[in-house]
Amino acid sequence: MSVWHARAAALYDGSPRRMLIDGDWCDARSGEVIEARDPATGRLLATVPKGGAVDIDAAVLAARRAFEGPWARVTPFERQALLLRIAERVQAEWEDLCLSDTLDMGMPIQRSLTNSRRVLGMLRFYAGQAVAIHGQTIPNSFPGEIRSSTVREPVGVVGAIIPWNAPIAGSVWKIAPALATGCTVVLKPSEEASLTVLMLARIMQDCGLPPGVLNVVTGLGPEAGAALAAHPGIDRIAFTGSTETGRSIARAAAGNIKRVSLELGGKSPVILCRDADLDRAIPVAAMAVFANSGQICIAGSRLFVAREIEDEVLARLADHARALRIGHGIDPETEIGPLISARQAARVEDFLQRGRTEGARVLAGGARVAPDGMEGGHFIQPTVFAGVADDMAIAREEIFGPVLSVLPFDELDDVVTRANATPYGLAAGVFTTHLGTAHKLAHRLRAGTVWVNMYHAIDPAVPFGGVKMSGHGREGGTEHLDEFLDTKAIWINTD
Ligand code: NAI
Ligand code: MG
Repeated sequence: MSVWHARAAALYDGSPRRMLIDGDWCDARSGEVIEARDPATGRLLATVPKGGAVDIDAAVLAARRAFEGPWARVTPFERQALLLRIAERVQAEWEDLCLSDTLDMGMPIQRSLTNSRRVLGMLRFYAGQAVAIHGQTIPNSFPGEIRSSTVREPVGVVGAIIPWNAPIAGSVWKIAPALATGCTVVLKPSEEASLTVLMLARIMQDCGLPPGVLNVVTGLGPEAGAALAAHPGIDRIAFTGSTETGRSIARAAAGNIKRVSLELGGKSPVILCRDADLDRAIPVAAMAVFANSGQICIAGSRLFVAREIEDEVLARLADHARALRIGHGIDPETEIGPLISARQAARVEDFLQRGRTEGARVLAGGARVAPDGMEGGHFIQPTVFAGVADDMAIAREEIFGPVLSVLPFDELDDVVTRANATPYGLAAGVFTTHLGTAHKLAHRLRAGTVWVNMYHAIDPAVPFGGVKMSGHGREGGTEHLDEFLDTKAIWINTD
């Protein structure tokens, strides 16, 4: 028993939580709820409101009122102070936030605790950006005293929809730039992991946000999510999730020509060259796909290995996978927690079966497990497949589970073509000690991010996002602010 167990029991005891609309904590208009369960044990943690279209209507109305009223009068420097205050409170409550994520969606606490650098960094980065938004004075071709300039204005009410796999970072990444630019927000968290987002909303609300600036409506995707995506009162949708849902959101957004940013799925390639430093590369390449039980959009799930070193790499990857400690994320020793749900575990098991049927060999893992006392959990062993061909399902589709496909290659030119032969383009990794190879591959891989001799790095100041069917729009960096701003041109005849 770790110290976390007592805290866990106190944090969630099965009682109902409410959602945030117009500064009030409320139930769904229908009175219906969704159960939030611990994916490691099946324990009921709490219930959250099952918000629907009427609740979304109320939230959008509140967000509009706030946008046109009190929030419009808050100055950039005040927004900056607010974001910095939020960062302080998030830091003070960081352990509870992490514990909440571990309980609600299974992320090992050893992983979530270390995310503070990134999350606090985001809040502080966007706080800085809040006071750096400005237009330009632009000379024009008109004769006489005609002046032209631009101002940057918030797009308005932002609808944010996020998945279950990183509730804290995922929600801060939507909320912080919206607040920095002067937008207001209606956020719908995943029905699989809403608890931490509600905790975060409580912290932000306590920091003095005017009512309606941040609204969180919990509920199902096809109900609350679809209503938000189609709502005529929403000016912009910021979505993270599966490519399939991204497609339906893009369609729904067409109604009132909403701006949309989509951060979608991936099947990210990692290329392990003959000259790689294997002692350093193996653990990173393994965790590129096993971290968070593979439930990460950037999971490096296709590992291309130079044929000369394939046997050695396979043996070492299999050893690494077998040694990973599987358990409840609340145990500080745990490296691999449960998958989010029975449905997700079944989906991953189906891929394991398809891999075998199509002729790939399981070198490690390959099955469900039930650690002691967690028979109700959704655990799958970290799995390494060898003998994978490019056209197998496990090499093409996003699995979102701890499953690595290893594919040998002979020539660099050839591996680039194969790595790029996917509808996705979120991220890619390269391991090499050769400077020329590092540069060549970094430029030729089609992805929003390429990491060389590292993986997973995401920073508040560095743009992140996809190409092709991994979506468009960038989060992080100054480009992210552009997604929340419109440019207005102002002409003045001073004659
Ligand atoms: P999803 O993409 O359906 O869910 C993400 C969010 O969208 C959730 O908040 C959900 O409630 C909402 N949503 C669902 N349908 C919607 C709709 N019609 N309109 C508006 N919002 C909607 O993902 P889901 O169902 O949780 O997972 C299914 C698969 O998608 C996973 O097995 C995984 O392969 C993939 N996935 C990929 C993610 C990534 O970041 N690459 C994130 C989540 C899922
Ligand atoms: Mg849950």
